[in-house]
Amino acid sequence: MLASRVTKKFQEIFASDGALLVRSPGRVNLIGEHTDYNNGFVLPAAVDKAIYLAVEPRTDDEIQLFAMDLDQSYRGTVRPPIAPSVWHWPNYILGIVDQLQGMGLTVGGFNCVFAGDIPLGAGMSSSAALENAIIFALNELFGFGLDPLTMVRHSQRSENEFVGLQCGIMDMFASMFGRKDQVIRLDCQTLDYTYFPFSAAGLRLLLLDTQVEHSLASSEYNVRRLQCEAGVKLVQKHYPGVKSLRDVSLEMLSAHVAPVDELIWQRCSFVVEENARVLAGTEDLQRGDLAAFGRKMYASHEGLSRKYEVSCPESDWLVEQAREADGVLGARQMGGGFGGCTINLVREDVIDGLVARIAPLYRKAMNRELKWYIGQIGNGTSII
Ligand code: GLA
Repeated sequence: MLASRVTKKFQEIFASDGALLVRSPGRVNLIGEHTDYNNGFVLPAAVDKAIYLAVEPRTDDEIQLFAMDLDQSYRGTVRPPIAPSVWHWPNYILGIVDQLQGMGLTVGGFNCVFAGDIPLGAGMSSSAALENAIIFALNELFGFGLDPLTMVRHSQRSENEFVGLQCGIMDMFASMFGRKDQVIRLDCQTLDYTYFPFSAAGLRLLLLDTQVEHSLASSEYNVRRLQCEAGVKLVQKHYPGVKSLRDVSLEMLSAHVAPVDELIWQRCSFVVEENARVLAGTEDLQRGDLAAFGRKMYASHEGLSRKYEVSCPESDWLVEQAREADGVLGARQMGGGFGGCTINLVREDVIDGLVARIAPLYRKAMNRELKWYIGQIGNGTSII
């Protein structure tokens, strides 16, 4: 098991078996994409794939890290100001140290070893899982007494300010607040959240991994954010009280954005429609109408692909195959976009046949190997 491999490695490197062990999961998102940074609604869940992180305080002010999956170590200190590493991965940890210090907290030196089984680049938020894992661990280790929501906010800020990706709050929130067999409807404006059971008999969440590195994701992601803000500004000229797309209706967009800038209208109307899909989709879940929920997933994909333009040929192809297959209730591009995974709501009994049929077709059509995972919904960040 991964957890014991991490503990063992920690013992090997640091000759100590007193480390605290934290598990922090990745996430899936059923519906509600690109809505979090628009103060909208999302419907994510934590998964059974996670980062396992062992940590122990040191008596000096050094930070010693070891990333098992990369076989790389990093050495630094907690002396402020914390400077980013030239490598990418230590920054997820250093950024959290920087956040904690920014709150006036004293972080002592620490040793840390981690590994994970969240597929990298698959849009399942391994970075949010790592950020949550380290903030959770340091909070425990140094007795800061931070509540989970404060930790989530600082994980997000660390990613925004230290790593440099202007992501929303969904990934960190889902990873921290996940509950077994439940999806979370999060209102990203108020941060109110409600759990909905998701354990439909005979249905599974199948993740089809395009194996496309979503390299466009961060630049285009920031462009989408700006386009949404531009839409809000146009509406504000007529409705000064409007603060985000959350306060905007399709009618406002048709009246005040469509005539000025069609592309901005396209982006903003997707977001407004996607929010409505999340709300209606949770009603479907409450009624147990998974077929209606699945149709909303397809509609979400349509919008992501045509209006928001964050899909890619590989994801579109996979969704098209899903649409034509028996036993697939819904499918769509998941996460930031431009690759990663599609999330499919599928009858359990058709999964093997479906994957066996489309994997060779995918290889032929896209010249890539398809990977797939079953998304099992699990608990959020915790000590184990
Ligand atoms: C990425 C970001 C999230 C969210 C999604 C799109 O995963 O990290 O905050 O915006 O994209 O829904």
